[in-house]
Amino acid sequence: MELSTLQSKVIGYNVPMSKKLHIKIILGSIRDGRFSEKIGPWVEKQVQKNTTCTYEVLDLREYPLPFFDQKETPSSKKKPYTNEVVAQWTEKIKEADAYIFVTPEYDRSIPGVLKNAVDWVYPEWNKKPAAFVGYGTVGGARAIEHLRMIAVELQMATVRQAVNVFAHWTLQDEKGDIQPGALDQFERGAQTMLDQLLWWAQALKTAREEA
Ligand SMILES: Cc1cc2nc3c(=O)[nH]c(=O)nc-3n(C[C@H](O)[C@H](O)[C@H](O)COP(=O)(O)O)c2cc1C
Repeated sequence: MELSTLQSKVIGYNVPMSKKLHIKIILGSIRDGRFSEKIGPWVEKQVQKNTTCTYEVLDLREYPLPFFDQKETPSSKKKPYTNEVVAQWTEKIKEADAYIFVTPEYDRSIPGVLKNAVDWVYPEWNKKPAAFVGYGTVGGARAIEHLRMIAVELQMATVRQAVNVFAHWTLQDEKGDIQPGALDQFERGAQTMLDQLLWWAQALKTAREEA
């Protein structure tokens, strides 16, 4: 199906709440003074411009997951994980039709806390799309590329367009707040990314329901 045809089916006004696609925005860092909580509201604002979806921010600080230590792998059918935070986290991942990962670059990859959160879950990620907002010296590009490879193993579809916020510290004032208008340059790319994400979200949701 043509992109424009599918978009006109899903991207429009008057979409009933029950038909809206649901996005989880995942904040991938937890340290004091983290930039993820500065850019998180900007990502939310970009998502709010799309009337065909709902969203929720998942802040890993609110899901203090233990390090993965189970005998059974998340992809196995027999995983009686009893940890309450793991159960809550898994349920949140299950609710989504699509994900936006907001990730810094730590040592040319994603933060360990994000990798651990990804590792705990398997079927709930499957057959869903993912998009990326990265930041760091090179806009989190190397972290995003690692995350794309991880997403393959999780049977996810990743979208081409990403938001790369280069040298984000140059956009912040002395208090660490993002200077007014500093992220405007990324808005167009963010909307392209969201268009791609919502296209895949609708296509894969339909396919999952039909399977
Ligand atoms: C452990 C660690 C490793 C880092 N490694 C990189 C790196 O490889 N590339 C990069 O561009 N920035 C790197 N940085 C700088 C981060 O991009 C920057 O500190 C960013 O604000 C971290 O994200 P956060 O504030 O959300 O924690 C690193 C920072 C930390 C704490």
